[in-house]
Amino acid sequence: MVLRVEPIKSMRGTFRPPSDKSLTHRAYMLGAIASGPSLVRKPLEGEDCESTLACLTQMGLGIERSASEVRLKPAEEWTQPDGPLDCGNSGTTMRLMSGLIASRPIQATLIGDASLSRRPMKRIADPLRRMGAEIEGDSPPLRIKGGKLHAITYDSPVASAQVKSAILLAALRTQGRTVVLEPFLSRDHTERMLSALGVPVTQTMDGEFIAAVDGPARPVGFEFLVPGDISGSAFFMVAAAMLDGSEVDFLELGVNPTRTGILDVLTMAGAEPRYDREWVELGEPVANVGIESSKELRAFEIGGGLVPRLIDEIPVLCVLATQCEGTTVIRDAKELRVKESDRIELTAKGLRAMGAKIETFEDGLAITGPTPLCGACIDAQLDHRIAMAFAIAGLVAKGTTEIDGAEAISTSFPAFESELRRLSLRP
Ligand code: S3P
Repeated sequence: MVLRVEPIKSMRGTFRPPSDKSLTHRAYMLGAIASGPSLVRKPLEGEDCESTLACLTQMGLGIERSASEVRLKPAEEWTQPDGPLDCGNSGTTMRLMSGLIASRPIQATLIGDASLSRRPMKRIADPLRRMGAEIEGDSPPLRIKGGKLHAITYDSPVASAQVKSAILLAALRTQGRTVVLEPFLSRDHTERMLSALGVPVTQTMDGEFIAAVDGPARPVGFEFLVPGDISGSAFFMVAAAMLDGSEVDFLELGVNPTRTGILDVLTMAGAEPRYDREWVELGEPVANVGIESSKELRAFEIGGGLVPRLIDEIPVLCVLATQCEGTTVIRDAKELRVKESDRIELTAKGLRAMGAKIETFEDGLAITGPTPLCGACIDAQLDHRIAMAFAIAGLVAKGTTEIDGAEAISTSFPAFESELRRLSLRP
């Protein structure tokens, strides 16, 4: 599918973002292992989370759907799936599900689409093997023979919430303390949700980033209203910051500090967000946040511990950088090369085609602005965030921008195009 985008004047209105993808995956998985039934309100109905739900039902989870709600009835014992578990485009499904399967007496084969089939799985297979699981394959398909595991201490070479969560979920069925260390703090949704559901979780952030679970433990059933996704909101946040006369209010936005790097960058760039009202859902902070345009956008720097706090937002932040005064430098972001696509290459290629001044490194990019952009034809290569980032670039470009492969957007933000139209003011 080709998405055609024309320039707009500004972006205005009130927006309830798509519900958080990471939180919806976790709500379904925790609901599937809980000691009682759960209710997930406003789950993300994107394809990635549907893949998680479908895999879980293949192993015995009972579900009942009504308008924007899913009721979950966990099976006492998980059943052997009768065929491969299709994780679609979703790395979170494959990696977290591996931790759940590895710790249960079942066998399963996990498969994915062309993009997921190229992504590295050794990062979860290695620690799960160390816990005692039998896993064939370091990339999809993964054949897992689960069973009784033992607690480990794992020093992860990457700051990855998917790696950390796979281990912590497996640890729920081991005896003793499992500890994960990471070089920087990655999103801590699993820790917060487990802790809110009665599982003994320890987090240390003094000098070293450590998450630990004391097993065996089982979360209790819950009711959870999934907050809005800051990663899905990032696209409209950047559009609002760049387009004169814009003002958008993001309602019920998840503002877990391990995800709010983009709000720090917008502040650095001169478009400081306005916070209104904050509350907590199952350990997760939520707020209403307003973003307005800024007449003088400044270049910014991203590196170190900020990277995992905005890893999925980097393509659209590169679009922002093209409209900022000065050179934006992004380093320590090598992980971008193993996401749904090589996001360093695709971002640079597309923005160059639109006229941006951009340089790439093995672990990042440098962009010098401000530069007027011109519409171009972009191939999103099955990557939803690349497709949406270039749709936002198209809003500030001269002429038409065409994005090929825009169907990938439905993995995380099915209403992207209609919401974009609703909030757009045309010249
Ligand atoms: C996710 C973690 C991040 C992120 C992905 C979702 C999660 O990946 O890029 O979109 O839900 O745990 P890593 O933590 O592996 O970098």
